[in-house]
This record gives sequence, C-alpha cells and structure tokens, in this order.
Amino acid sequence: MIKNLLLSLLFVISGLPLFAGEGMWLPLLLSQLNEKEMQSMGMKMTAEDIYSINKSSLKDAIVHFGGGCTGEIISSTGLLLTNHHCGYSQIQSHSSLENNYVENGFWSKNRNEELSNPGLTATFIISMAEVTNDIMKGISENMTLAEKQSTIDKNIESIKKSYPRQPYQDIMVKAFYKGNQYYLFVTETYKDVRLVAAPPSSIGNFGVDSDNWVWPRHTCDFSLFRIYADENNHPAEYSPNNVPFKPRHFLPISLDGIKENDFTMIFGFPGRTNEYLPSESIRQITDLSDPAKVAIRTRALDIMHKYMQTDESTKIKYVTKAARISNGWKKWQGEMEGLKKTKAIEKKQKFEAEYNRLLKSNPALQAKYGGVLEELNHNTIEANKYVKISEYSVELLRVNIEILRNYSRLDAIVRVFENNGAAEAAKKIDELKAWAPGYFKDYVRAIDEDIFADLFKMYYHDIDTAYHFPRLDMLAPDQPGYTEKVKMLFDGSPLASQTQMDYFINQSTENVIKAIQNDGLYLFYKEMLDQYRAKVSPKVSHFEKLTEEGMEKYMAAQMAVFKDKRFYPDANSTLRITYGKVNGYSPRDAVKYEFQTWLDGVMEKYIPGNYEYDLPQKLIDLYQKKDFGPYAENGRIPVCFIASNHTTGGNSGSPAIDAYGNLIGLNFDRTWEGTMSDYNYDASICRNIMVDIRYVLFILDKYGDCKHLVDEMKLVHPRSAKKPKKAGK
Ligand code: ARG
Ligand code: ASP
Repeated sequence: MIKNLLLSLLFVISGLPLFAGEGMWLPLLLSQLNEKEMQSMGMKMTAEDIYSINKSSLKDAIVHFGGGCTGEIISSTGLLLTNHHCGYSQIQSHSSLENNYVENGFWSKNRNEELSNPGLTATFIISMAEVTNDIMKGISENMTLAEKQSTIDKNIESIKKSYPRQPYQDIMVKAFYKGNQYYLFVTETYKDVRLVAAPPSSIGNFGVDSDNWVWPRHTCDFSLFRIYADENNHPAEYSPNNVPFKPRHFLPISLDGIKENDFTMIFGFPGRTNEYLPSESIRQITDLSDPAKVAIRTRALDIMHKYMQTDESTKIKYVTKAARISNGWKKWQGEMEGLKKTKAIEKKQKFEAEYNRLLKSNPALQAKYGGVLEELNHNTIEANKYVKISEYSVELLRVNIEILRNYSRLDAIVRVFENNGAAEAAKKIDELKAWAPGYFKDYVRAIDEDIFADLFKMYYHDIDTAYHFPRLDMLAPDQPGYTEKVKMLFDGSPLASQTQMDYFINQSTENVIKAIQNDGLYLFYKEMLDQYRAKVSPKVSHFEKLTEEGMEKYMAAQMAVFKDKRFYPDANSTLRITYGKVNGYSPRDAVKYEFQTWLDGVMEKYIPGNYEYDLPQKLIDLYQKKDFGPYAENGRIPVCFIASNHTTGGNSGSPAIDAYGNLIGLNFDRTWEGTMSDYNYDASICRNIMVDIRYVLFILDKYGDCKHLVDEMKLVHPRSAKKPKKAGK
C-alpha cells in the first residue's frame, strides 16, 4: 500500500503516467525512458535484453511481415509465426477446389511440402540510430516547404549511400515526431518465406465479421511460415537450395499462461496513429469523416448481406469483399463511440488551455510557437467544408462500387494509347484480358448495380449541388426511371459481364479505345473523377499540407512546453514496443469483462452450417474427449486474452511477450470500445486482443497433427522454474 502510494507520488512528480499502457516506444530509447517503469510493472528483463546492437536480443526475433504485419521467429530453424489474416492471401493463392487450404487448413508434414510465396518478405531491424542532424543539414527557417523537402530528400539519399552496411542489407530513413526527428534503420529483408501451416478459416477466422473488433473473442488467428536463407544465412530469392534461416534469437514459448495483472509487452510494427491532434481535428473525425464513411458502407454492406443470405455461391464470392469493407466500417463506429465516451474533444480542449497558459508564460516559446495551435484549429474548420464530398468521392470511386473501382484499368489503357501508342496499349489490353476471368468469377452484377444505384442516390441527396455533374443529373436519381437508366449503363459496360468483356476486347486496339470512349459508364466515371480532381482534391491537398506544416510546429511546441513529459512518436510502420498488463475492463455500467476466453466459449458460439460460427467436427471431438495434450489449464484450453497494450493496425501478428521474454500470445485485434486508441489512448477501456499461445499449439499439435513442428520450438515453464529463467540463450 505504502509502496504503491510512493510509486504514484513518484509518477506524479516525474510526469510518468499513472496508468501505464499508453505509448509505442522506440527500442533504442527504452533504457532512458521506459526500463524503470517496465520493471516496476513486473518485467524481469533489462532494456539491453530487448534491444541491443552488441549481443542478440529480443528484437532479433521480430520481423516486418509482408510490409504490413508483424511476425516473430519461434525456432532455431526459422519458423515464423504471424496471424491467419496476415498470411491469408498466401493461403488463398495456394488454394484450389481440390486443395482448399482456406476451408480445410494446411499442414505440411515435412519441409518438402512447405509452399513458396513469390513477393513475400520478412524484414529484420539490425540497428537504428538517430540522424536528425544529418537530415536537417542545410535547412533554414525561411525556406519554403518544397525547398525544405528537397533538401531533406537529398540528405536522405546521401546518408543512404554513405552509411556503413553489408551488401545484403538496406538502409531506411524515417521521420518521427511529425518531422522533428529522423531515424535510420539498417535492415535485412528475406525473400524466401514459405507457408508451413494454417488452420481452417472456421478456426483461424472464427466469428468472421460479427466478432471482428469485439471482445469476448474466440479466434485462433495464426499461420506459420519458415524463412529460408542462402548457405551464408543471408537473404536470397527463392531457390530449392536455400536452407532454413538460423536466427540470432528466437522466442521461447511459455506454457505457464497468464494471470490478471501480469506484465506483457507487444513488439512489432504499428502502422499509423495520430495522438497529438488538436481538438478540432478530433471533432472532424467524430462529426464528419467517420459518419460519412460509415453511412455509405452501411448501405453497401446491407445490400451485400441481403444477397449473401439468399444464395450460398454469392456468399462465397462476397465473404472476403464484405470483410474488407466491414473492417473499417466497424472500426470507425467503435472509434466514434469511444471518442465520445472518453470525452476526447473536451480532454484535448483542457490540454490546449493548459498548453496556452504555459506558452504565454514563456516569452521565448510564445514568440516561436504563438498562434500555431489556433491556426491549425482554424484550418481544420475551413477544411470541414470538403470532408463529406471528399469521403463520398473516395468511397464511391475507389471502395464500394466494384465496377467503378475497376474503370481505372480502362482509363489506364486510354492514357497509354494516347501517350505511348497502340502497341503499348495492346499490352495493357492483354493484361485486362488475363485479369478479367478472375474478376468475373467473383462478380455479381445485381449486387454491384444495386449498390451503385443506392450510393448515387445518397450522393445526389447528401452532397451540395455544386458537386453534381451533368451525367449524374441526367440519371436523375430522384425521378422514376432511375433504376432503368442505371441498368442501361451497366448493359453497355465491358466490366459488367464476361460476355460483354469478350465482345469488347476481341477487336482491334483502335476499336477497343473507341469502345471505351463511347461507353456511358466510362464517361460517367471520368466526369466524376475529373470533377473530383478539379474541385475537391486540390482543396484536400491544400489543407493536408497546411496541417502537415502546422503539426510539425505544434508537435515541437508541445514537446517544448511540456518538457518533462515523455512523448512517444506516432506510429509510422517502424519497430516499437508497447507494454501493459493483463486486465479485463468495464465497457459500460454494470458490465465487467474478464481477461481470458476458453474453448468452452468457442463451443457456446458454435452454430452448425453458419458461415461465421461453424466448426470442424474434429475440433468438437477433441473438445469432447478432452484430448488437450499439455496445453490445458485445469482441464480447459485457454483461447484468447486481453491486456492494456497500446497497439494499432500493423501490430497484427506481433508477439505478446511475458516478463522474461517468452512468447505467451499473438496479437491480432483491439476491443470495440478501444479502437479510438489511434487518437486518444485511454487505459480504462483500450485493450488489445491476443490468441493465447497454448491455443495455437493445441490446434497445431492436436488438430493439425503437427507435433513435429511443435518439437522444433522451445517450450518453457517460467512460473514453475525455481529461479526465474532468462529468455532463449
Ligand atoms: N480487425 C482486425 C484488423 O484490423 C482483424 C481483421 C481481420 N479479421 C476479420 N474478421 N476481418 O486487422
Ligand atoms: N487487426 C489489426 C491489424 O491487422 C490490429 C489492430 O488494428 O488492432 O494490424
């Protein structure tokens, strides 16, 4: 008690947060900023155990997987663990009707059965260093933004050339703190990454869209790969002569499970956050941009689901498409709710009042940064005029209406014809010919036509007439006969059916170009796109540039004004550490969530034949026989758990690591009430969701019959060990 009080007092004085959990920290600054706090929360390692350039450390087991997710090495033989949804396109690309790995899972029985994946990469961070001074060389106050950027770009190019590296390494430089600091990374990118195992979707994506972004969760969201290297253990393109990669470090796996309040950390590559925005930017998100996107996607998803429910083959064609649209749709709703619930705008306003008070009390800072915040907020209010039209344009042209999205392909053919001539255009036409069967295999015109009609009716009603265009007015969405006119547009489009495509594409190049230029839907698309480019995107970029410039100053100002506060940089797809504790939470009055789910809960959700909650018989049999191997806790299989780690998109597949450096889980999602952590992390309701590693091992061993893979790993029992064991050596 007294110790706790003292600790709180210490945090108040030192400006450290009372509720640890917030922050995505730079590995090389841990000893300076975080080590003490991490240890006070229960961590038994040092900062040097996590990130070191002198010896092997945890960071040597972490990879950026395919550029968008995280993966971790879990054996001396290069086994790489990541999410099912991160490996999904590889699993899908190897699938056929005879070998449907999406449906049935994939379990390689030996290394010869592992499947190669052209284009898939795994990148290690070898070292990082701050290079702000080198990058800012030659920058002066009175430069324009463009001059400044070109100087920075030149400096980056020159340091990339001169920085010491091995021939098989790359150099990457990234901006941090809104361009106030720069860090350089030496990386090694492996290019031979093979699929080793994946559960069936019914297990790896159990609960599909209904459970997405939601707790309690029961998904075994994992897939297993292996990195291969050349005979020197260096990166190499795929070759049958490559050998399993030998890592500098791999994560041992703890079978001891988790308890409430256990220390956990997530090590990975979070993509993008915006934690330092002014209050008006948050208002723009909650009042304008999220609602516009959600409204449009609600209509599109309603239509898709209506068709999916009535026909099995439609369902198969649209599950992935609906999931793609639904992921953002659902997240933004949670985000709006969470921002409102935690009073994010008021919180920001209070912060701004305090910021202004301190700024005014310091003449030097006031002279440098006075007015920066006001200008940002003012610009945001100006920019609000363009939010709705910009979101609608993007959602209609690029996301929800498949046929429009793909008109960019026809447009590209016309442009190539005009700029590079018929021969080049013919190549593009061949590409289209090859692409078309795949597109039509999963295309249902009726769905797309309904979505088109509905969304343009919405556009017509919701958007200022200044952005109506002649071909939209001609359709007259508010008049009888509208749906017939839409039907006629589709009847004339080569992108509406394979027959129409065949008729269109099997003529001379000149005639294909003519056909495109006479296609009513193409003209409609062009008119909307041209108008967007003329009236909307220049405004949007103008305000984006002002915001970028303003945020660079406002970030520097916040750091100068609150100079004792620890600031972590916004996520930018670089390697970060976040740490917190295993903990439930209360989403609303009288409701308390526990931190762990169990296989019993999977069985409770089971609905035979349902596309989200069906289960394979074999899992049910294992459950009934209690054939759990060494992976159960008191006779039950643990499934997922939550903790207060601050994560975002890109952290998928990141390891959840215990106090000793062992793997205890696999991060894959966040809870509904906490998706606003990208703007306003709040430890009371923000939780990340992880698969318990024991569920992964149970599925791999007992369901997939892959004991041989588990045998490659190192299983440990840190809790029952007499002395706390250090990881991995
Ligand atoms: N919401 C998670 C993320 O943003 C998981 C997405 C994949 N799962 C799904 N059911 N769509 O990536
Ligand atoms: N599901 C996300 C991902 O795929 C993680 C998150 O947003 O929490 O990276």
